[in-house]
Amino acid sequence: MKLTPPKFLELKQSGRKIVMLTAYDFPSAEILDGCGVVDAVLVGDSLGNVVQGRQTTLPVTLDQMIYHAEMVARAVSNALVVVDLPFPFCQLGPEAATKAAARILKETLADAVKIEGGADRGATIAAVVAAGIPVIGHCGLLPQAVRKVGAFVVQRDRERVLADVAAVESAGAFGIVLECITADIAAEATQVAGIPTIGIGAGPYCDGQVLVFHDLLGFSADAKVPRHVKCYADLQQTIRNAVKQYAEDVRREEAPLN
Ligand code: KIV
Repeated sequence: MKLTPPKFLELKQSGRKIVMLTAYDFPSAEILDGCGVVDAVLVGDSLGNVVQGRQTTLPVTLDQMIYHAEMVARAVSNALVVVDLPFPFCQLGPEAATKAAARILKETLADAVKIEGGADRGATIAAVVAAGIPVIGHCGLLPQAVRKVGAFVVQRDRERVLADVAAVESAGAFGIVLECITADIAAEATQVAGIPTIGIGAGPYCDGQVLVFHDLLGFSADAKVPRHVKCYADLQQTIRNAVKQYAEDVRREEAPLN
């Protein structure tokens, strides 16, 4: 059964941890959803890093987000599908953000958008929500602000994170991603927030966790895997082995099978 934003909110009260993973294409999203254990699929602008091989998420365009979101959302029938609003649509103000978010909902089967930023995004989140578009917030480390902050580092400013979480919730978001903040701040934010918190590099005490698909599977370039990631497979090695086996079969005239 499809998970909707109201049911997502209820998961906080139920105490069952929320499982979110990214996906960027139809077959991966179909596998994730078919597992029956994933609550939400995020079409993250991390596709700039893991699919496009870029250093940051900044070059990812709205058209590219829609291209990937359309495939993913069509493959998913149970999980909530959330799509990142790419740079600079979170930053340009309420009107630009609402128009971009509306395109995402109009041109894909996605359920919600994610908007990076804290207290300074209150008006933007409120406008998008007022347009009938469900929003998940994103506080702590903000990859879209990398040029401003200079580096991807763990966020330790308790006051700022708590103020951001409160602002995002009161603007009407139904969930919030907490990226790379210390576990104690994430635990406190989770306790005071009325909406589910989804951590990534934020310790185990959030209402749920999100991970990049390629990192979970050992499919990302090793040098780019963040410290918090626990790999559950070594897809790079599996692919190398399969390709070598195929090449051997071709050279021994043992492929194709008929
Ligand atoms: O873009 C993304 O995949 C994200 C997650 C890291 C939360 O925002």
